[in-house]
Amino acid sequence: MLYGEKNKEKLRSMAFGYGSKEKGSVIPKYRLNEESIDAEAAKALIENQLLDEGNSRLNMATFCQTYMEKQAVELMAETLDKNAIDKSEYPQTAELENRCVNILAHLWNAPKGSDYLGTSTVGSSEACMLAGMAMKFRWRNQAKALGMDVTGRKPNLIISAAYQICWEKFCVYWDIEMRVVPVSRNSLTLDLDRAATMVDEYTIGIVGILGTTYSGEYDDIKGLDERIEAYNQEHPDRPDLVIHIDGACGGMFTPFTEPELEWDFRLPNVVSISTSGHKYGLTYPGVGWVVWRDRKYLPEELIFEVSYLGGQMPTMAINFSRSASQIVGQYYNFLRFGRQGYSHIHLKTQEIASVIGDRIEHTGLFELYNRGSRMPIICYKLKADATYKDGTPVVWNLYDLSDRLRMHGWQVPAYPLPDGAEEVTVQRIVCRADLTFNLAEAFVTDFRECLEDLKHAHVLCNEEKSGAYGFTH
Ligand SMILES: Cc1ncc(COP(=O)(O)O)c(C=O)c1O
Repeated sequence: MLYGEKNKEKLRSMAFGYGSKEKGSVIPKYRLNEESIDAEAAKALIENQLLDEGNSRLNMATFCQTYMEKQAVELMAETLDKNAIDKSEYPQTAELENRCVNILAHLWNAPKGSDYLGTSTVGSSEACMLAGMAMKFRWRNQAKALGMDVTGRKPNLIISAAYQICWEKFCVYWDIEMRVVPVSRNSLTLDLDRAATMVDEYTIGIVGILGTTYSGEYDDIKGLDERIEAYNQEHPDRPDLVIHIDGACGGMFTPFTEPELEWDFRLPNVVSISTSGHKYGLTYPGVGWVVWRDRKYLPEELIFEVSYLGGQMPTMAINFSRSASQIVGQYYNFLRFGRQGYSHIHLKTQEIASVIGDRIEHTGLFELYNRGSRMPIICYKLKADATYKDGTPVVWNLYDLSDRLRMHGWQVPAYPLPDGAEEVTVQRIVCRADLTFNLAEAFVTDFRECLEDLKHAHVLCNEEKSGAYGFTH
């Protein structure tokens, strides 16, 4: 309940619009209305409620897809009623999911002939949970076989401080010690030397992030793989150390923009990869994917059999029922765009991001962590003693700039960096496929105008509003 008890009854009820036959009557917001209302009236009331909301296309904070083609939307609407888990009722939908898993395994260079397997999920969070559980169970099975005490000490997971919150959830929910490798002002990715000092025989795995949430940078996954290879050779008496790749952002971007970059199953110690289909997979939110390079990395205890085409089909998921429409939307994109289409779309987004990055750098006020040349994300902080070109000193902060941009409809979050660089505030702009050159031009014009406005502004926060706009994607 958002409103206090003493608020007026009218805050708790909704009035019908002009011309409707229910006009004049009110219905409660926080209790179920007694009588049914007309379908059109219900729709109009909800549309009105949603009117006063940001425009998703102008939301530069989210990685999540905000545009799909009309045909995809039609297909998705037609399949909303199908339950993805019901594989015996909807075997053709299950087939589309199966094709998507195969497409991804191929895209991520699963070794020829390997017995890979994977599944769709609600998003990367569920995919990361499943991959994390697989690492934990596999570690435990190996540790038991080696005669280690698996109950007296908590197993641990190693990850850079630039992790997304889903990993913290995973460690809390599944009772894992999270060993966080701090980042620094100058580097927001996994510090391999420090990570190496944290490894022991209770480490279930190390997460490499392909496109961190904070700045969009890539961990050095090839370097990590080399270290792990050496570690495993030096410690044949310990459970194998493995890598999971959190490719929420990069998993469906990098294969198209930097196909030669080795971060995936080409590296022998990468045992699982997760991604969000609803980010650079170009599908509306809620779909994610996780693929294991081989069945042996997904302990059998985690696989449940559901009936499929009169037979049994293995599934692993935290959720049970959910609509199949996102899976259908994902397959539509694969089919429609193909490798060339995805490359074309992502390279264009990258080009637009680079233009925005250059323009922001050109103002002379910001230091850039990411200029959009890899993941199409621009991440920057204000320079120390930032000064306009005419000599006027900057007296505002990035939260003030966020406020100003919001006045133009743009949502651009400002937030503190994670452990190790928490005193630094940055701003992040996420470019998506629906950010056209025209829109980008409009953004840059508004951005510059905001900088001019702030030069003469009377009202500034002048206080770091820690987490004021936060970000969740
Ligand atoms: C690196 C990383 N991992 C995981 C997630 C969680 O993704 P989802 O929103 O698909 O659950 C995100 C979301 O931004 C992310 O950036």
